[in-house]
Amino acid sequence: MSQRTFGQTTIRIVQGDIVTHAVDAIVNAANVTLLGGGGVDGAIHRAAGPGLLAACRVIEEISPGVRLRSCEAVLTPGFRLAARHVIHCAAPIFDHCPSEGRAHELLAANYSACLALAESHDLRSLAFPALGCGVYGFSHADSSPWALAAMRDHALDSTCKIGEIRMVLFSEDAAEAWRWSLDNLEELR
Ligand code: APR
Repeated sequence: MSQRTFGQTTIRIVQGDIVTHAVDAIVNAANVTLLGGGGVDGAIHRAAGPGLLAACRVIEEISPGVRLRSCEAVLTPGFRLAARHVIHCAAPIFDHCPSEGRAHELLAANYSACLALAESHDLRSLAFPALGCGVYGFSHADSSPWALAAMRDHALDSTCKIGEIRMVLFSEDAAEAWRWSLDNLEELR
């Protein structure tokens, strides 16, 4: 199945390029510097144009070179993107986590932080990439149940007003893994 609805929120699994999605916000798989990078980060900055980096640069540093705390998210405009906003978060680095379970808890907390930030700005539609599933070393198969459970749990909260969450996977194989996890979520998480 490519989609399921929990409460008033539909979670859709799609294959494609996240920069093309015209939603209220796309989520960026950023790093703590917020100064861009490769992967999704690079694609989003390229598509958004230089205004996005300028907006990130003015976000106050928490410590030298760090603008983003673990499991937190920040919002910027989308500039030239089809999406109105970008929500930036930094997934944990899998190998730096004390255990696999803790790694997935931290990853899920990043999805939850992005959803909470979207709610606080009355955003109704979001698109996520597979946070952490590139250079940060998470696997689609193992991380997708944790991420989808975080979305389900957020959606079933009575205060949730988000109508649509898209999971945008770059490859069809990745999309297939996420569809399987969505279909079998109750058995998994
Ligand atoms: N649209 C959707 N998904 C994409 C796109 C895109 N345009 N480009 C890459 N992806 C996928 C990757 O295939 C991977 O499955 O997004 C997932 C996340 O991969 P990364 O972008 O490497 O993100 P992550 O693993 O969280 O690592 C973040 O990489 O680019 C740097 O600055 C970034 O330091 C940060 C780190």
